[in-house]
Amino acid sequence: MEYLGFAVELAREAGGVLKHYMNREKHVELKGRANLVTVADKESEALIIRRIRERYPSHAILAEESGASLGSEAKWIIDPLDGTTNFAHQYPFFCVSVGFEHAGRIQCGAVYDPWRDEMFSGARGLGAFVNGQRMQVSDADALSNALVMTGFPYGVREKMDTAMSQFRAFLIESQGVRRGGSAALDLCYLALGRVDGFWEMDLHPWDTAAGTVILEEAGGRITDFSGGPFSVYGTQIVASNGRIHDDMLAVLRTLG
Ligand code: IPD
Ligand code: CA
Ligand code: CA
Repeated sequence: MEYLGFAVELAREAGGVLKHYMNREKHVELKGRANLVTVADKESEALIIRRIRERYPSHAILAEESGASLGSEAKWIIDPLDGTTNFAHQYPFFCVSVGFEHAGRIQCGAVYDPWRDEMFSGARGLGAFVNGQRMQVSDADALSNALVMTGFPYGVREKMDTAMSQFRAFLIESQGVRRGGSAALDLCYLALGRVDGFWEMDLHPWDTAAGTVILEEAGGRITDFSGGPFSVYGTQIVASNGRIHDDMLAVLRTLG
């Protein structure tokens, strides 16, 4: 698939930019109280946008640091560095995420972790892969046996009670909870069976576009907190291997 190949190419090349800056001066700026942006975010995004403009000048682009360009049914949805806080602290859990949407549906995506050299990719109907090997979600069949992941939005200080009650409930009901710091990689770890479930509030399309198509192609299930359809333009996500999904929804339901 042409667009998948291009997404993989973009993610790998932009990943090289992140790797280059990982152990160097990063010129961290603040977008909010704890919301960072670095020279690597900007360079990675500029490179990706330049490549798309050269190859597909009519396509729309939605990119975290530059916003949206309109005008086409074909749209690239980009997070040039997912896991910026990790990156700024030299904690090696971050990635580039490139999703491709056509006619309102995410068709394919690539998520690249340049530190581990792991390329996650997936396209509708074609499956999900890590470095070319097919991926499949885990077979954990109860939340009590499951390792789950989550993340906290930058606005968590205004939503502390909700975030903590969710965290507390999953700590009680699961085998363990991890906070990775990169939603796109969290979704790929779920696709690969390294974890069994994931939930988060207040994500953006660039965090989830590529990861969700990869996860669905690996056999995962994705909804909002009440079990309704997931959209990358919504904010809530509950994602799982499918088998523990109802248990996860039940936990969130008890919190109201
Ligand atoms: C963040 C990461 C993090 C999630 C935050 C996101 P960024 O993206 O995906 O895991 O918890 O909600 O905003 O800012 O590092 O691209
Ligand atoms: Ca992000
Ligand atoms: Ca980002």
